[in-house]
Amino acid sequence: MNVNNNVNMKPFHTFGIDVPCDVLVEAATVDDLISAYRCPEWQELPKLVLGKGSNVLFTEPFHGVVVINKLLGKTVTTRDDFIYLTIAGGEDWPSLVEWTLEQGIPGLENLALIPGCAGSAPIQNIGAYGVEFKDICDYVEYLDLESLDIIRLSAQECLFGYRDSIFKNDLLGKVIITSIGLKLPSNWQPNFTYGPLKSEKDLLTTPYAVFEHVCDIRRSKLPDPNVTGNAGSFFKNPVITHENYMELQALYPDLNGFEVEGGVKIAAGWLIDRCGLKGHQIGGAQVHPQQALVIVNVDNATSNDVLELAWYVKHAVLDKYGVELEHEVRFFSATQETSLEIIFADRFQ
Ligand code: FAD
Ligand code: EPU
Repeated sequence: MNVNNNVNMKPFHTFGIDVPCDVLVEAATVDDLISAYRCPEWQELPKLVLGKGSNVLFTEPFHGVVVINKLLGKTVTTRDDFIYLTIAGGEDWPSLVEWTLEQGIPGLENLALIPGCAGSAPIQNIGAYGVEFKDICDYVEYLDLESLDIIRLSAQECLFGYRDSIFKNDLLGKVIITSIGLKLPSNWQPNFTYGPLKSEKDLLTTPYAVFEHVCDIRRSKLPDPNVTGNAGSFFKNPVITHENYMELQALYPDLNGFEVEGGVKIAAGWLIDRCGLKGHQIGGAQVHPQQALVIVNVDNATSNDVLELAWYVKHAVLDKYGVELEHEVRFFSATQETSLEIIFADRFQ
């Protein structure tokens, strides 16, 4: 277990903001995780497990122990008509997708190039280009931080939803995901439900062709965090009522929406874009000029620049469309998880 004190977390999260933590631990085994959580010296300190830090914003210095998941290992077995993968939580997701294709294992190609660890994928049920983690998940295993037992949940027990799971709700802060089990049909069935894939489907005849096409689309739209700091989509796509959708549609006929459980999902990127906010900048934080749903660190942004810009965007959308945006990015204050709403409620008091 590698331990360092007073660490600048800039290399450990993709927003690339200078922000320190008191202690940073790199855990390569489950025993390391247990040691970090049971260490008497750190007993009173808040703790936070991180994968690649590609969905987080530190709103201030973290006065606690950040534990980086470095659990590695993967196994493959074939049974009946399925390929089963067991992947340790610290494996890099985009590398895993490429590796499976190199091994001749199809099924993960739509989820190419999503930054992060395999063990983080279930948390918000990562999704892109018509596929979500829930579609390929067999089970998730976690370390229960109270009993220190390893517990396995079936995909169904994970209660996956759009950018949601049991790990963001009942099990929040109580577990560390140590491994995931994936179940992929041996007989490849391409998924072309996402429009831009469907229109190219005659050309996309192999898993690798789909992989490359998804990578091309992503590279053309999304900023590379190794070049420009960001955490992907900053907000979730909101789900509004049918009545609300009909009202907005009457006013803005080019607003698209699609039916989901509980209402109609509309594109937050479209709403932000139509507020004229592409390229809008506060300090070093900017609404990405190509993809309005992404906030980028263009010029040594501080956490506060990102917060001010996110608040501005949220209110511009609320004022124009009456639609409340909820951030997808997870916020952490000095000691615990927080949110845009909590931070600004405190500021306005
Ligand atoms: P982190 O950011 O390190 O952690 C995220 C949260 O999970 C934190 O609350 C953390 O405490 C918790 N956590 C991390 N590991 C564990 C663990 N082992 N056990 C328990 N809790 C844990 N997401 C999508 O769904 N679809 C996309 O298409 C997509 N595109 C993106 C593109 C870019 C350029 C970027 C920067 C991000 C994108 N994201 C996307 C968001 C991000 O890739 C995913 O949320 C990813 O799963 C985060 O993984 P991570 O390892 O970086 O998690
Ligand atoms: N749009 C605009 N202007 C913009 C951005 C988008 O008008 O600046 C419109 C597009 O034209 C399109 C619609 O909004 O009609 C949706 O855009 P896009 O297909 O780019 O997807 P998205 O809704 O912005 C979601 C996910 C992404 C995922 C892609 C592909 C969320 C919050 N985001 O983005 O996930 O990669 O679909 O499936 O659901 C992430 O979660 O971090 C992430 C990047």
